[in-house]
Parts: sequence; structure tokens; C-alpha cells
Amino acid sequence: MNVKNCCQCSAGVCEQVQELQNGSLRKEKRAKHRIAVCLGTSCYLRGSSEVLKAVSEELGIKPGEVTADGMFALEVVRCMGACAVGAVMMIDDVLYPNMDRSKISRVLNFYK
Ligand code: FES
Repeated sequence: MNVKNCCQCSAGVCEQVQELQNGSLRKEKRAKHRIAVCLGTSCYLRGSSEVLKAVSEELGIKPGEVTADGMFALEVVRCMGACAVGAVMMIDDVLYPNMDRSKISRVLNFYK
């Protein structure tokens, strides 16, 4: 859909929206695998900040970064709708429930 004529926004705003739709403003490199760690309230209360820290340490990257080999991108999300089985993380389209620090190496090694 072309957003240029869909609303009353200025041309500049419409161009930025169009660029976002096209993904041209994405700054991060594409990675082979996308890891999303949930820091929503329920997951946070179940230790997801430790999960995030463990993934960061294991891969040597912070949220928003990609590993040097282009294998993994790490990001933080706020609720994946799986609160009952938190802390959760997702790699590509696979949800990992009940995560804790001790499980990170084993899960990541599966993708290496
Ligand atoms: S808070 Fe993590 S899935 Fe809802």
C-alpha cells in the first residue's frame, strides 16, 4: 500500500512511514537467527532479566546487536502472550518456556 495519499499527514511524515514499511530504516544487520527475550512484567518477575543477561554473555552482544558471525540477533520484547510459562524467549518461531540461566547454553548450542 502506498501511504502517500492515505491521510492528511505531511509528505515528509508519509515518506518516513513508507520507509519504515519497506524496512529501509532498520539499522541492524540481518542475522540467521533472531532471539527475542521477553521482559514483560510476568516474565520479568520469573527471572527473564537473568535469561537476557545469560544470552548476552553467551553471545557477547547486547539487545539490538548482531553477533560478528551474523548468526544471532538479540532483542527484547514486552510480552509474547505466553505469560503463564514465563520466563520465555523465542528463537525464530520457536518459543522456549520456563527459561532460566542454566538452560541458555544448551538451547543456543542447538543453533550453532
Ligand atoms: S510477560 Fe512474557 S509472555 Fe507475557
